[in-house]
Order: sequence, then C-alpha cells, then structure tokens
Amino acid sequence: MRILVIADIHGNWPALEAIVSKESFDCCWCLGDLVDYGPFGAECVDWAREHCTYVVRGNHDHAVAQFVNGRGEDGYRYLARVTRELMWQQLSGDQIRYLARLPVSLDVTLNQRIVHLYHATPRDAMDEYLGPDEQTWQERVSALRGQLLCVGHTHLPFLLRVGERMVLNPGSVGQPRDGDPRASYAIIEDGRIELHRVEYRVDLMVDAIRATDWPERAKEWLAAVLQHGGLRPALSQLRP
Ligand SMILES: [Fe+2]
Repeated sequence: MRILVIADIHGNWPALEAIVSKESFDCCWCLGDLVDYGPFGAECVDWAREHCTYVVRGNHDHAVAQFVNGRGEDGYRYLARVTRELMWQQLSGDQIRYLARLPVSLDVTLNQRIVHLYHATPRDAMDEYLGPDEQTWQERVSALRGQLLCVGHTHLPFLLRVGERMVLNPGSVGQPRDGDPRASYAIIEDGRIELHRVEYRVDLMVDAIRATDWPERAKEWLAAVLQHGGLRPALSQLRP
C-alpha cells in the first residue's frame, strides 16, 4: 500500500499535477486547504473529490464554504482576503457544499493501526499553528490512541518523533513557506514515511495570477511567495 499524503494545495493546480504525474499511489490522504491564494481552486477541489480516499477540512476550506470575508491588510491574511472572492466566483454550489461537509478530523486504519488526520492540531483542528516543537506536540498527542498523526497548516514539512508517536506534516503542495519553492508531499509505504519535493511550473502559476483582476500588490506578493518559497524570503527580495 503506497499512500500519497498531501496538504495545503491552495488552488495551485500545476504543483498538484506535478506530484500526481510523478508519483504512483494506491490511495491519497489530503489534510485540507484546497482553496484560496491560487486561481485553480475549482480544479483542485475536483481532483480531491475524485482521487482522495480521505480529506479533512482546512481553515481556508471552512472560510470559503461559510462565506467568511477575510480581514487583513498585510501578509497572508491580506492575500487570502483578496483571493477568496475568485473562489466564490469559480466554485459551484456543489463544490461549496463539498467543502462545507468535509470532516474536521478523521481516524483511519492502516495495517490495523489508527492514524489521525487533522488540518492543524487536535487542540484546534483547523487553526492552531504548531511547527516541529516536540514538547508542545507531546501535550497535543498524549490523549490520542494512534501512533501516527498527520497534519498540515504550517506549510512546513517535518517528521517528528514524539515519545512513541510520530507527527507527520507533508508540507504544502501549492504554497511552500520553508524557503524551498518546490511542491512538498509525503509517501507512506511499508511502514516507512518519507518527505519529498518536486519542481513544478511556477511560471504557469505566475502567469495565471497575473491574469486575474487581483490588486497588483497581491499579484506581486503571491508570485514572489511561489518563486521564493514563502513570504519572508519573498519580502527580503521585494524590500531589500
Ligand atoms: Fe494552508
């Protein structure tokens, strides 16, 4: 059984396509955030519906499905706010309902063992931002029955041992924030867990972003985030 684990696709179809055309897999687990930031939200929702065995709801899926107007004049909150309008324009009622009905967490079975799927953390399934901090994760996983917890949300890939458990974050397919612009994902096979990266056509995403009616500032930031692997490395280029 070869499992593809993905998260935080964020409307980046070229990145998702690069992964799924490179990797063969028996099933796919998606840890949420299909939409916002990228102009291919509908394509990513359709792909997940057709190909993912399990999908949990991310904070951006929730916000789009519940018609939450974003707030923020800076950083990622600003980019989410200005890109969300396009999601509402391009997603059908059926696609919106699909996002609204996604579970906030799932317990799945792999080789007779429980695996927990969350977008963020068990404490706050959609919103808590927690990187590879072993001590804090110990508090978050202590009540779980399973040995493996799969999460997304931070857009930072890591595989962390926490006592007898493992916490896997496959990183972000469509908007990496660790300084490496390549699409990030994980493969679980025969008890092994591996993090992977693959190059994709960032230029196609930048062209698609430039073709939207988003504010020029947002287009510039989004392109730089994709080209540099995050806002911080991008801003160091934009504001030398
Ligand atoms: Fe995300």
